[in-house]
Amino acid sequence: MIDISIRKETPNDITTIHQINSTAFETDAEADLVDKLRDSGVTIISLVAEVDDKLVGYILFTPMTMDNFDIKIAGLAPMAVLPDYQNKGIGSTLIEKGLEYCAKENYAAVAVLGHPNYYPKFGFVPSTRFDLISEYDVPKEVFMIKELKRDSLSRISGIVKYHEEFSKL
Ligand SMILES: CC(C)(COP(=O)(O)OP(=O)(O)OC[C@H]1O[C@@H](n2cnc3c(N)ncnc32)[C@H](O)[C@@H]1OP(=O)(O)O)[C@@H](O)C(=O)NCCC(=O)NCCS
Repeated sequence: MIDISIRKETPNDITTIHQINSTAFETDAEADLVDKLRDSGVTIISLVAEVDDKLVGYILFTPMTMDNFDIKIAGLAPMAVLPDYQNKGIGSTLIEKGLEYCAKENYAAVAVLGHPNYYPKFGFVPSTRFDLISEYDVPKEVFMIKELKRDSLSRISGIVKYHEEFSKL
């Protein structure tokens, strides 16, 4: 087992976070998106993972919106771990810490657009289990949501949207 420590990002981490995202993803698009969202103040929590004092992982949660409902939903994205450090539980630890923080900040739910085999172990279910869909044209099992407050999603329906910067990805 490796020793993973998770903490909030600080200004000194910004360049390394950019590198982690541009290395883990195929293009710089996610790295640039994170910079834009940070500059616009669109973040709930931005966490880094350290192993042996080296930054190796990153996760961001941003507020999502619905047209007709005033409900606090956090969007998990992006998340990245340097290739040499993948499959060691770092991504999972980042998700768990992020979910804890969102619950503490009174978020009703967290949504994610991602791999349907990965996120269910954290309690995410396809959003269509509730009456909720993504704004993007994606297979329905890839947009997933997790209630942090019991029954908070049972009386709402419609499209759950990421910040508009995400549509430029
Ligand atoms: C996705 C990512 C952050 C996971 O980080 P990690 O530290 O390797 O995650 P963990 O070690 O906690 O979990 C590894 C598990 O994720 C699975 N996994 C990794 N990448 C995956 C992907 N793109 N799709 C589906 N499953 C994936 C592995 O098979 C493994 O599964 P297991 O636990 O059942 O064996 C990392 O693989 C990554 O940076 N990928 C490139 C960027 C990306 O695609 N980000 C996610 C989209 S926002």
